[in-house]
Formats: sequence, C-alpha cells, structure tokens
Amino acid sequence: MRDTANPNRTGRPGAWSDAWRFFRAFLRSPGTIGAVLPSSRHLAHRMLEGHDLEGGGVVVELGPGTGAFTRHIEPRLGAETQCLALELDPEASLRLQQRHPRIRVINDSAENLGSHLAAHGATRAGSIISGIPWAAMPPTLQETILGGIARLLAPEGRFSTFTYIQSPHTRRGAACATLLERLFGRVERSPMVWRNFPPAFVYHCEQPR
Ligand SMILES: C[S@@+](CC[C@H](N)C(=O)[O-])C[C@H]1O[C@@H](n2cnc3c(N)ncnc32)[C@H](O)[C@@H]1O
Repeated sequence: MRDTANPNRTGRPGAWSDAWRFFRAFLRSPGTIGAVLPSSRHLAHRMLEGHDLEGGGVVVELGPGTGAFTRHIEPRLGAETQCLALELDPEASLRLQQRHPRIRVINDSAENLGSHLAAHGATRAGSIISGIPWAAMPPTLQETILGGIARLLAPEGRFSTFTYIQSPHTRRGAACATLLERLFGRVERSPMVWRNFPPAFVYHCEQPR
C-alpha cells in the first residue's frame, strides 16, 4: 500500500528500512548527511532530466546515500556507459554496491573524484548527479568539490544538484548558488518539487568555465 501522506515514501520493498538507515546516518553525522529522509522519486525524476545516460561515456553520482537516485540511474545506463558513485559513508557504500552491481561504488569523498576517474581510464564525465548537502558544508569545501566538478565535467556535459526550499535563504546555501553561477556558463533552476520532504529544487548546470 502506498503512503500518500509522505511524498518520500515509495511503496518499494525496503523503503522503510532505507528511511530508518538514512535517519540513523543523519543522527550520527548531521553535517554530512544534511537531511532526515532519502529523496523522493519525484525529485529523482527532476534530477535526471536532460541527462544522456544511455550514450556511453562516464556518469558520476556523488553522495548517493541509500540510492534514491541510483535506482533510477542504473536501469537507464547504456551498455557502453561507465558509472561511478562516490559515497563518504562506508555502510551506505557497501549496501549500495550489493544492490547495484552495475555501478562502481567508491567509499571516498567527492573531493577525490579526479583520481577515481583517472583510475578508471577517464579524464572527464558527461553527467554528474549530486546529492551532496552543500548548505551543510563550509564554503571552502564547497569551493573544492564544486571547482573539481566544473573541471572534470565534459564541455558538453551536464551537472545536476538539488537543494531544499529554505537553503537559498541561508548563508551557505546562498554561497553555493553564487559559486554555481561563477563556475558554469548556464545554470537553470527547476520548478519546486513539492512532493519531497522537505520540498526541493534542482540546479541544472552546463558549460563549465
Ligand atoms: C542528503 S544525503 C542524499 C542521499 C541521496 N542522494 C538522496 O537524495 O536521498 C547526502 C549524502 O551525501 C554523502 N556525502 C556528504 N559529503 C560527501 C562527500 N564529500 N563525498 C561523497 N559523499 C558525501 C552523505 O554521506 C550522504 O549519503
């Protein structure tokens, strides 16, 4: 039975245990998790808009957590597409690798994306999809990770990242929005995804400078 009161609940087997695991991870480390529930499938669909996951090349997911976006990415991957996911939490990384054998899950920080791409024979990624909580992160770390993403995204590539409704009104959330404008020639904001808790929107970024 689908729980319509909670937009982040999917009715999928294992959804409650994922939500519980996610919440426990938040209690352990609120600053790196940055949310109390996994994202909804409605937000996942917005995140993947405009991404070519079928056409070969390299797709990267940053901060996949319990796999709210991963489970929508994996079935869309083309036979020639390589997919790497970088997740800081060791327990989440292990579980994600078991569930998604097609994806190479790496238990490391997004700060080290360049070396992991190189280890997989790539210099750039065509798609980068991020669940990293920028608004919970100090500006220097935002600069390091987002600067790296802009350098490692292919010139025709697409980078998508979400933020919660309140974040642009916080100091760190506003700093992140300013940084995206500086690093990318084109930054588009999606409509608000109300069927997510908390409501969120996506920044779709192209033309890395
Ligand atoms: C808000 S959760 C999002 C999880 C999932 N993408 C979703 O939307 O439900 C943020 C995730 O980013 C991970 N994370 C935070 N900082 C990171 C970093 N520097 N590198 C890789 N993962 C990171 C956290 O461990 C957590 O799993």
